[in-house]
Amino acid sequence: MVATDATRLTTVDELPENGSFLFTIRERDGSEVEVILVNGGDCISAWRNFCQHETDQRLDRGFGAVMRDGEIVCPKHGSMFDACSGHCDNGKAKGSTLLSVDVTVEDDDIYLTDRTCDFLHEGGIEDEDDDDDGMPSSSSHLTF
Ligand code: FES
Repeated sequence: MVATDATRLTTVDELPENGSFLFTIRERDGSEVEVILVNGGDCISAWRNFCQHETDQRLDRGFGAVMRDGEIVCPKHGSMFDACSGHCDNGKAKGSTLLSVDVTVEDDDIYLTDRTCDFLHEGGIEDEDDDDDGMPSSSSHLTF
């Protein structure tokens, strides 16, 4: 039984089998982190949205993670992570495991049930504040 204050993320029906549902959480240390919710065929699971080979590489870059036969494919070097266990046994990320976020399926609904973080919003981090980071845009790529 899911706690009454658990956040309902989406439904199993709405979760694409090829792709992911992207949302943002706040960790206990205050940092914001993106999470992907995926349908691995035999499981519904959620993972912090970065590769274990290069942690600045997002798995879902804003238009859904690439999924193949129940595995999440890293868009940079192509390592594949088991969508149910998060483990990778191939390529550059071989031997690593994605960082999980607890979710629970009840009936057709999927809830965030991880007590180590709080739900912030649907979508990725940039979706909230665009590129309004107070920095001057650097578009000065001069070529001669
Ligand atoms: S950054 Fe993901 S496999 Fe290299």
